Amino acid sequence: MSQKAVKPSEITPESTYLNRRNFIRAGIFAGTSLATGLTYRYFNPISEKEPAQTEISTVSAQTEQSTKEKPNTFEEITNYNNFYEFSTSKGRVASAAKGFVTRPWTVEVGGLVNKPKVFDIDDLLKFDQEERIYRFRCVEAWSMVIPWMGFPLKKLLDQVEPLSAAKYVAFETYYHGSSTNPDVKLPIGPNGMQSSFSAGIDFPYVEGLRLDEALHPLTILATGLYGKPMPNQNGAPIRLVVPWKYGFKSIKSIVKITLTDTEPPTTWNLANSDEYGFYSNVNPEVDHPRWSQGAERRIGEFSTRTTLMFNGYADQVAGLYAGMDLRKYF
Ligand code: MTE
Repeated sequence: MSQKAVKPSEITPESTYLNRRNFIRAGIFAGTSLATGLTYRYFNPISEKEPAQTEISTVSAQTEQSTKEKPNTFEEITNYNNFYEFSTSKGRVASAAKGFVTRPWTVEVGGLVNKPKVFDIDDLLKFDQEERIYRFRCVEAWSMVIPWMGFPLKKLLDQVEPLSAAKYVAFETYYHGSSTNPDVKLPIGPNGMQSSFSAGIDFPYVEGLRLDEALHPLTILATGLYGKPMPNQNGAPIRLVVPWKYGFKSIKSIVKITLTDTEPPTTWNLANSDEYGFYSNVNPEVDHPRWSQGAERRIGEFSTRTTLMFNGYADQVAGLYAGMDLRKYF
């Protein structure tokens, strides 16, 4: 991964949303989120041609997990992306992913579980949705604050009942294109994705967590941001968000989740195991071999900020790694 600066022209204030946050603080979120949904529907009437998207039923604000830091604007979050299946240029992902068709969509959950199940995306959208405003730190040393909407991954995993042998959770992104891996059977579906050869990493994109990380209350499956369904470029229709880890762990457009007893392969570790480990916890004390991880540039700001241990979530997650050498398990 390389570092690239955001253009000042890409930065615009999101005063509307900040006003909405004040409403959240005032405790009248329910009415406001309903209004957001209605506004969204007004500007996006469901047409005959497009498959109907399930309305997100309830959105509750999780104030104790959410940061009070100022969120980045919708424009910043949706125009500065890493989604290598579509483009390796951050500014081009949004236009390249425009035609990505995300209905019908299923997420197959299986492996070491009692009750394997294929979930339809519209059923996942019926899970109670929560707003989580999280810091997001990319391994490339830039960061954002993103108001996600979604639900704890634990809620999904509880439904399939992991077996006691399950120790890890493996995730896979939808892929339709060509792969360098002859064992990969590609799904039939809409294209628009580039080849592994052009992207420089193998597809489908895969990620993994230890089971206790996956069950942690901060780990969510995100279905939207800023109260709107997930934009294609951010991983529609459903993606992982693990806020104390570098952004590449937060795999997009998930089609498959498998519980395993061994550590699953992960895309960036497969691409370069010296630079990207399985854990990839945000850690200002362990530098990337090619740059420092001690500081970061918040998109929209000019000076850098100090990077916080576990991206500022140490109180909640440090216990998961008690006794581990974080230089070895980077
Ligand atoms: N998931 C898939 N399938 N493909 C990708 O290229 N990029 C990762 C992660 N998830 C990526 C992915 C990286 S490197 C980052 S920093 C985040 O997505 C970026 O998420 P964002 O574009 O929503 O900010």
